[in-house]
Amino acid sequence: MPKMHLLTPGPVELVDPIRLSQSQEMIYHRGPEIRALISEIVADLKADFNADHCFLVTGSGTAGLEMAYACLTKPTDKSLVLTNGTFGDKLAALSKVYCSTEVFAQPLGKGWSLERAKEIIDNSDAQVFGLVYNETSTGVLNDAKSICRYAKSKGMVTILDCISAWAAAPLDLKDFSVDFAVTGSQKALGAAPGIAIVAFTEEMMLRAESIAARSFYLDMKKYKKDMQNNQTPTTPAVSVLFSVRAAIDYIKSKGGFEAHRRKHQLAAEKSRKFVESIGYKVFAEPGFYSPTITGFILENADAIRKELREKFNLVTARDFGELQGRFFRICHIGNFDDAHLDYAFDCIRKVLGK
Ligand SMILES: Cc1ncc(COP(=O)(O)O)c(C=O)c1O
Repeated sequence: MPKMHLLTPGPVELVDPIRLSQSQEMIYHRGPEIRALISEIVADLKADFNADHCFLVTGSGTAGLEMAYACLTKPTDKSLVLTNGTFGDKLAALSKVYCSTEVFAQPLGKGWSLERAKEIIDNSDAQVFGLVYNETSTGVLNDAKSICRYAKSKGMVTILDCISAWAAAPLDLKDFSVDFAVTGSQKALGAAPGIAIVAFTEEMMLRAESIAARSFYLDMKKYKKDMQNNQTPTTPAVSVLFSVRAAIDYIKSKGGFEAHRRKHQLAAEKSRKFVESIGYKVFAEPGFYSPTITGFILENADAIRKELREKFNLVTARDFGELQGRFFRICHIGNFDDAHLDYAFDCIRKVLGK
């Protein structure tokens, strides 16, 4: 297979040390090697999230969201979900599996600010609050910090889908008043897909201990017991964990998580300038720009994607729902560097004749 250049929101391209880490010898998932591996990863993740607990769950990011709702809600609870795109809608649909759910939406491209959310939160009797930090389908970053702080001050449990935001946008659980945050290995971390990372407060562990989990596989109580011993209740995706370890090491070798976030911020600015330079308008409302995704309306987007793939081996992400076939996303997430982005911009210019 020829080398493909991924300009996708995840899985992302793997740099060699991360890619090759997956081919090392297998280890037993109950031995000292896995305990060392998990304890190192968890220490780094807990520090960056400022979390009391961090579990590594084998599954995609959605498994982490499912863990939150299965373990932190009772069937009699109500959950409030704010959405502004496909992934907010999916979070709302997931929430509905576990409890009654009220959903409020912003038009696509518009962000959730505290000003827009405040009255909804004031009028809600929900116990649980759910929000997507970075709406990947449109490239809109919601003001998770102000909104979660406010929802928490009203007594709600705050669940944040930061799947395409963590390690690219700022997030400190205690500072943001986020109770439970979820991301995935294949996103800004830049590892292979297959591990959901959940980070949460001690208060949430106590809450989970007082509620009957509505999942066998994702029971936080079982996880706690095994994670105390740096193991997981069931067999983890060991090779993906190797890549998670390698991805953290790679980030550290480039200056650490703050530098990684800065890299995303700069790439987002560069991508917005590029979009304007070829005569398009960034879709996200100013003030809500995403550090990982820059989107714009592009008629005939499917044909453009096809040409980019066939002529330049540049793989770009599909679009969704209302924007189907007329939206284009430049994804600057994970292991990319300037050369990678410049190659993508050059290919896009050629195909668009700009
Ligand atoms: C914001 C957001 N939430 C949820 C998901 C679903 O994640 P996964 O496919 O890892 O389950 C994604 C995937 O792109 C996402 O970007």
